[in-house]
Amino acid sequence: MTGPLLEVEELRVGFSSDRGVVQAVEDVSLELDEGELVCIVGESGCGKSVTALTIMGLTRSPTTRIEGSVRYEGSELLDAPESQLRAVRGPGIAIVFQEPVTSLNPVQRVGPQIAEQIRAHTTLDKAETRQQVIESMRRLGIPQPEQRWYAYPHELSGGMCQRVMIAMAMSCSPRLLIADECTTALDVTIQAQILLQLRSLCDDHGIGVLLITHDLGVVAEVADRVVVLYNGRVVEQGTVRSIFEDPQHPYTWGLLGSMPRLDRPRREQLLTIPGAPPEPGTAGGGCSFLARCPHAFDRCLEEPPLAPVPGASARESARCWLTPDERRHLRMVGGDIGLAPAGDIG
Ligand SMILES: Nc1ncnc2c1ncn2[C@@H]1O[C@H](COP(=O)(O)OP(=O)(O)OP(=O)(O)O)[C@@H](O)[C@H]1O
Ligand SMILES: [Mg+2]
Repeated sequence: MTGPLLEVEELRVGFSSDRGVVQAVEDVSLELDEGELVCIVGESGCGKSVTALTIMGLTRSPTTRIEGSVRYEGSELLDAPESQLRAVRGPGIAIVFQEPVTSLNPVQRVGPQIAEQIRAHTTLDKAETRQQVIESMRRLGIPQPEQRWYAYPHELSGGMCQRVMIAMAMSCSPRLLIADECTTALDVTIQAQILLQLRSLCDDHGIGVLLITHDLGVVAEVADRVVVLYNGRVVEQGTVRSIFEDPQHPYTWGLLGSMPRLDRPRREQLLTIPGAPPEPGTAGGGCSFLARCPHAFDRCLEEPPLAPVPGASARESARCWLTPDERRHLRMVGGDIGLAPAGDIG
């Protein structure tokens, strides 16, 4: 195959209700190649889950307005018939939802739930399928998988359900796995195991993984590339190296500044971004980070485009009017960019 496995272009998703339209996604573009692990990061409510669900065709409804383009292996999914989407879900794109308990069937034992998925997409017989399910539960660190086969979802902890969901998604051998906060509820050791597994899906099996997280530690651990979302928009994207070593957008500086680091005195360690993100679609004109940006100037009253970072690789871009030199200078003189220490904010 030539071209990316997944291409999202200028995606917009708005939900209408009696109280008006919630523009959950304003402008999201991203690409993902085979064997690549791309992380989407951003604060709660910035549109990560809506982006993931829309890629899978799961936000379609008469009250949802979806614009832009989502191409999987070159075919457009946004206006594809439901039958085509069904054929893509599972063996093509699989998703692990953020809310594992609500996405498992509460009245069916978990083993058969995973088995059903596998049998829908393979020619394995019953015994082989059971063997594969138990194997995939074991690989994900589910203790005593033979007994767990018979458990109902409510008999398992949240973290255990999450692992069942991941086992279910992986069992169909998808080409693209979308994992929405799939390790958030887990102990750090299990989280590390699962991240390693996701990484090996990319490296050993050429699967593309789109991992949604608000945890930059997770990003540093496994990502090839990073897409930073703010208020429904991509504000920056780049390689994991460029994001950590030469971040371009003041919002990314803020995210990095709020990450614990051993090389800073503890008192000064955690910085926060003053203010809160605007409600979706209410940012008004101009840059959506304007109200919280310590470096805003006149030009920011006009919304900046997502523009390539000069001199960087093709997939590095930022939505900010500051020039790369200004950004570098500000980061140098501002240490961690003029954001307030966490303790100073009410
Ligand atoms: N079905 C819906 N109808 C109306 N608004 C919605 C719907 N789904 C999501 N939203 C709104 O869209 C915005 C983006 O939601 P989304 O779930 O994508 O956030 P998120 O980035 O995944 O956040 P979190 O980190 O908390 O999971 C939020 O303001 C949310 O309230
Ligand atoms: Mg979410």
